[in-house]
Amino acid sequence: MGGDWKEMFNAASDGDIELVRYHLKMGVDLNYQHPEYMTSVLIECIRLGKTEMVKFLLENGADPSATEGFGSTTTLSIAKSEKNHQAVHLLNSYLMKNNSNESIRINKVLLTGGNRGIGKAIAQKLLEESHEVIIVCRRETEGKAVAEELKYTTGNPKVSIIQGDLSSIQKCKTLIEKIKSEHSGINILINNAGVWMMEKKLNEDGLEMSFMINYLAPHMLCQGLFPVLKNNQPARIVNVNSGLYLKGGLDIEKTPYGLDFGSIKTYASSKFCSMMSSIDFAKEIEGSGVTINAVHPGVINTGLGDSPKFLSKVVSLFKRFWKSPEYGAAAPTWLALSEELEGVNGNYYNEKEKNEYIDEVKNEKLRETLRIKTKEFLNK
Ligand SMILES: NC(=O)c1ccc[n+]([C@@H]2O[C@H](COP(=O)([O-])OP(=O)(O)OC[C@H]3O[C@@H](n4cnc5c(N)ncnc54)[C@H](OP(=O)(O)O)[C@@H]3O)[C@@H](O)[C@H]2O)c1
Repeated sequence: MGGDWKEMFNAASDGDIELVRYHLKMGVDLNYQHPEYMTSVLIECIRLGKTEMVKFLLENGADPSATEGFGSTTTLSIAKSEKNHQAVHLLNSYLMKNNSNESIRINKVLLTGGNRGIGKAIAQKLLEESHEVIIVCRRETEGKAVAEELKYTTGNPKVSIIQGDLSSIQKCKTLIEKIKSEHSGINILINNAGVWMMEKKLNEDGLEMSFMINYLAPHMLCQGLFPVLKNNQPARIVNVNSGLYLKGGLDIEKTPYGLDFGSIKTYASSKFCSMMSSIDFAKEIEGSGVTINAVHPGVINTGLGDSPKFLSKVVSLFKRFWKSPEYGAAAPTWLALSEELEGVNGNYYNEKEKNEYIDEVKNEKLRETLRIKTKEFLNK
């Protein structure tokens, strides 16, 4: 039997790599007379979940960016809509390698809180787009399992973890040194990890936990990793904040120590402080080749704030009506990667819409108070 394009198409749809290989050997041209024929085979395989076949066809010269009726990213859009993550990664890699007109960069991203919730969905998106991701995770075994899962679901092996805990000043210092020595190539930092405490808890520095994790830790990571990011510019920092920041405030004698603790208020205040820190840092680094922006990712159904406490139980009743972690990942990922945001610095986005800061966080005197106190904490 000689080579036959139609039979090869059927063999591809059946996932029969050996038979496709045979037809290729017999001289069948994968891209035939009309390149869109090949695109239709790829689409068929993507839809049927025959990802190994997609890989094989791409490696053997199939062109997914065929013209005539198909845009160059049609296969990619279909892979995305089918949630075939491995195919998304394969097609992205192909388009990056072969589309020499567009200078698509592969970024090296350090992401906190990437083992679950919004952070895990951010990691997934970044990996699908063929970027490299290093996840900061408190528990090494859990982190490694998540990294393996992400490798499997996205087909992108460039995911690793770095063990780190953001709950104290010393732990953050240790983490920063470790990142600097092991990952000097990072050019994107996403401060995503966060907590919503249902009851007051102080850390080993005597600081209230959400003040530490939601404000001081990302502040320290920005300051500590800035030289690395600057070396790898253009570089970006994305601070995952919250729309609730506008309900927060700062009483410098009370807030850092949880003396004005209230579950919602304290969460909002930690994000309020983080927002002030983003504003200050944006001014400090303007023109350096590194940018920082803050984002509210939406109201998302994750484990944030889960606890046996009454308020948490009430909130969880509503959570099923909230959006998915994938939805929550869209705006932070956009801020990290989008070309239209190249050089944009010091903004706050409510999802993808630029919002003005509330006057309270623009208050220079209040920000100075926080800066001074923060220096005291860090120099102790
Ligand atoms: N969900 C929403 O509706 C919403 C709305 C606005 C803003 N946000 C913000 O979005 C970000 C992600 O939240 P999420 O909803 O995805 O919450 P989540 O599902 O509870 O995930 C929180 C992440 O932060 C990590 N984390 C917590 N404490 C840590 C510590 N001490 N050291 C290192 N990592 C730590 C967690 O790791 P472990 O697994 O080790 O705990 C987890 O990976 C947060 O900054 C949150 O404030 C969320």
